[in-house]
Amino acid sequence: MNRYEYTMGKDVDLKAEQEKTLRTPVMKSNLILKSMFLMMDILYGFKRTLPKFMIIEVLARYPYWAWENGGYKIVTKSHTKRKWATRKESDLALYLIDLGRDSQDNEQWHLMLIQDIMRQKEMRLGWLKMKCIPRFLAGTYYYLTRFMWAMNPKWSFRMNAAFESHAEHEYMKLVDENPEWEYETVDSEYFQFYPAQTSMANLFRRIGLDERDHMNHSLEAIEKMNN
Ligand SMILES: [Fe+2]
Ligand SMILES: [Fe+2]
Repeated sequence: MNRYEYTMGKDVDLKAEQEKTLRTPVMKSNLILKSMFLMMDILYGFKRTLPKFMIIEVLARYPYWAWENGGYKIVTKSHTKRKWATRKESDLALYLIDLGRDSQDNEQWHLMLIQDIMRQKEMRLGWLKMKCIPRFLAGTYYYLTRFMWAMNPKWSFRMNAAFESHAEHEYMKLVDENPEWEYETVDSEYFQFYPAQTSMANLFRRIGLDERDHMNHSLEAIEKMNN
């Protein structure tokens, strides 16, 4: 039996899951992540606000893209040698490609939903915070995640697990800090792609829970690499 419990697509008690997160310690971040989170705090303020979560979601997709890319590199290498590709090589490549694609989709819906809510709430940001800084961070994280993967896939999974654990806790704390969201209804055209929620509180609990699933996927990937 898989010791990692996944919640996506399941009917779960979101409030109970939020409490579970708040009782669980956040994973320890490495120096790179710590510096990144500090930079976000300095640039976007120490309070938990939607623009900060928008930045998290802009970045969140990149490690998965690096893994998907890594999976395709394995396909190319294993299918362009004199010996036939083995099932083990194909399985690893397919695992990375599937994990990479599914998680990127999930992160992109998070980003689109958050920005749609910011649009509805007319939370406008200036040129620097909306365009310049996110693009700079995205460019940096693109190279960083690929470098980590190339150096050691396990480092890449470990760093992402800590990133996701941080995101999970931040979302659950955000809901805790906004008790009025319990009664605030939410609607978005992106519910065409993502499980629609009845309240703002439940939407952000669900997103936080997705981040816990992402963390578990990364931890499970480390185990797979060890076997
Ligand atoms: Fe996310
Ligand atoms: Fe995530």
